Amino acid sequence: MLRTPLLAAARSSACRKLVERTPVTRALVDRFVAGSTLEQALPKVAELSRDRYVTLDHLGEDTTDEAQAQNTVKAYTRLLEELGRAGLGGRAEVSVKLSAVGQFLPADGEKIALDNARAICEAAAAIGTTVTLDMEDHTTVDSTLSVLRELRTDFPWVGAVLQAYLYRTEADCRDLAGAGSRVRLCKGAYDEPASVAFRDKAEVDRSYVRCMKVLMNGEGYPMIASHDPRMVAIAQQLAATAGRSEDDYEHQMLYGIRDDEQERLAAEGRRMRVYVPYGTEWYGYYMRRLAERPANMLFFARSLVTR
Ligand code: FDA
Repeated sequence: MLRTPLLAAARSSACRKLVERTPVTRALVDRFVAGSTLEQALPKVAELSRDRYVTLDHLGEDTTDEAQAQNTVKAYTRLLEELGRAGLGGRAEVSVKLSAVGQFLPADGEKIALDNARAICEAAAAIGTTVTLDMEDHTTVDSTLSVLRELRTDFPWVGAVLQAYLYRTEADCRDLAGAGSRVRLCKGAYDEPASVAFRDKAEVDRSYVRCMKVLMNGEGYPMIASHDPRMVAIAQQLAATAGRSEDDYEHQMLYGIRDDEQERLAAEGRRMRVYVPYGTEWYGYYMRRLAERPANMLFFARSLVTR
C-alpha cells in the first residue's frame, strides 16, 4: 500500500527537501549507506572484503547537468584508484547508474553516458576489476542495454542488471546468457505500470525463478541479487543441477540488509557480494529501501514522532 506513494516521493524534490532536512534522517540512512565520503566508506569495504565481495555505488541519479555527470565520472575514477591502492581490486568492483553519467541529458544523452561509462571502464580495467550497469525504470532499459552492447566490444566483462518484474526480462535473460556475460538478476525497485511489469509479488517471484533458470542454464555468470530466502535456496539448487561450481555464480545483497545471512552464506563457502552505496545523494536510494519494506517506513515514522 505504501510502496507507490513512497516511490513517487523518491522522485519529488519537495519530499526530498523535507526528508533531507529532518535531523534524525542521517542516522537512519546510515543503516543503508556506508558514508557520505569515500574516506568513510573505504574502511567498511575493507572490513566486508575479509569474507565477502563488494560492488560500490557512488550515489546519484537522474542528472540533468553535464558538469555533474563529469563529477560523477571523476568520483568513480578516484574510487577505482583508491581501491587499487588499497589492494582491493580483486574483491571490489563498481556499479554505475547511466542516469548519473548523463543518460537523461537533453542533447546526445545516451552518447554522453556511453563515453562517460567508457572512462569508468578504463579506470576499472587499470586495476583489473569490473563494472556493472544498474538498471533504472523501464523507459531506460533499451538505452542501457544498447550502451552495454557498445561497452562490451571493448570491455567484455561489463555486467548488466535485469529486473524480473518486467515482462520482457525472461527474453532479455536469453539474449544475455551467452559466454562471458555477467547478469545481476534482481526483482526490480521502481513503480512500474501493469502494461510493462508484473505487479503481484507471487508473479514477480515466479518470473524471478524462470529468469534464474535461463541464466543458470546459460553460459554466462549469474549474479543472484536477492535477500529472499526462497530465491537464495532455489538459486543454489539450480546451480547444482546445471553443474555450476561455487565460483560459477554469486549471491548479492544490499549493504545493511540481512547481514547475518550474508555472513552465513560466505562462511558456507558461497560467493557473496555486497552492494555498498556511499555519497551525499542518498535520497532516491533510501526511499526505494523504505518502499521495499513497510517496517522500514514505520521505523522512520516512529523516529520522527519520538524525537
Ligand atoms: P523481497 O522484496 O521479496 O524481500 C525478501 C526479504 O528480504 C524481505 O522479506 C526482507 O527480509 C528482506 N528485505 C528486502 N528488502 C529489504 C529492505 N529494503 N529492508 C530490509 N529488509 C529487506 N533494483 C533495480 O530496480 N535496479 C537495480 O539496478 C538494482 N540493483 C540491485 C543490486 C543488488 C545487489 C540487490 C540485492 C538489489 C538490487 N535492486 C535493484 C533492488 C531489487 O530490485 C529489490 O528491490 C530488492 O532487492 C528487494 O527484493 P528481494 O529480492 O530482496 O525480495
